[in-house]
Amino acid sequence: MTRVLSGIQPSGSLHLGNYFGMMKKMIEHQENAELFCFIANYHAMTSLLDGKALARGTLEAAANFLALGLDPEKSIFWVQSDVIEVQELTWVLSNFTPVGLLERCHSYKDKVAKGIAANHGLFAYPVLMSADILMFQSEIVPVGKDQKQHVEVTRDIAIKFNNEYGEVFTLPEPQIDENVATVPGLDGQKMSKSYGNTIDLFLDEKALRKQIMRIVTDATPVEDPKDPEKCNVFNIYRLFLDKDGEEALRRRYLAGGTGYGEVKQELFETVRDFFAPFAEKRQELLADSDGLRKTLAMGAEKARCIAARTMRKVRKKVGLAY
Ligand code: ADP
Ligand code: TRP
Repeated sequence: MTRVLSGIQPSGSLHLGNYFGMMKKMIEHQENAELFCFIANYHAMTSLLDGKALARGTLEAAANFLALGLDPEKSIFWVQSDVIEVQELTWVLSNFTPVGLLERCHSYKDKVAKGIAANHGLFAYPVLMSADILMFQSEIVPVGKDQKQHVEVTRDIAIKFNNEYGEVFTLPEPQIDENVATVPGLDGQKMSKSYGNTIDLFLDEKALRKQIMRIVTDATPVEDPKDPEKCNVFNIYRLFLDKDGEEALRRRYLAGGTGYGEVKQELFETVRDFFAPFAEKRQELLADSDGLRKTLAMGAEKARCIAARTMRKVRKKVGLAY
């Protein structure tokens, strides 16, 4: 079976882009692959240095994944910092990482360009990500476009190491689903926390309705025909529809007589009803944080077994075992 691995940072609230762009697909992989899924709390420290918020965010991220359908029996699901071997591998890999390779990383350059004072954590972020991936001999890494370069960096580092010490690491492939590569936000741009244009997953009804009513539309009168492809409401709504449902909505747009307000109300009800059972499950999970910790500890134990095996091999190769 193919080994699939991905991590998500525990960064607070989730939106439709996170769900359709990443989480849903990860969860589907548990049926047809050997799935490794973890909460990247070490990585989150590059933008969050508030201990309480990080700890709370980590439990929330775990509850989110489990509530949305991740099955800890069918996958290996853990918190990054519970497998500390990854830090040792990061150090080993650092010695196979040219500084120039890190200097060329877009996400690092973008942050520096925005005026964020770069520290070593931010600079070394891709080496830690390489350790995450190589530790588990991952073959496929599903990521958003923004993370593709980091998987390429991982391949470069693995090739350098393997050239020196033989075929120790599997070379991973990034996987990007072009269909939902970009979920549009309220304004039609990419949905993103940093643009303030999100529809969030676990809101109360009033707040959810408010977000959906803010979707930007043009001024076509109710009775006129409308172009579905150009409409942000349609482009978000279609994520929830099957082929027939989408076709039916398209026909209503083209026929005229349906106003944007009416479609927004329907979209609101659809989103609310779609996530309601997940929200309930999430609350149950969060109410039992010890149970949640137990599930995560079980995942960490499985992950550590594999990590220990990799590190035994690596330590021997590089001479740390003597
Ligand atoms: P944000 O842009 O809101 O900060 P993150 O960078 O935390 O989102 O993204 C977490 C995951 O969700 C990544 O795998 C990313 O590719 C995916 N993702 C985020 N926004 C979208 C979107 N609008 N469409 C598709 N995938 C997305
Ligand atoms: N850097 C990724 C992000 O911000 C999270 C991540 C950390 C990751 N380690 C990983 C993703 C390994 C895939 C594989 O989205």
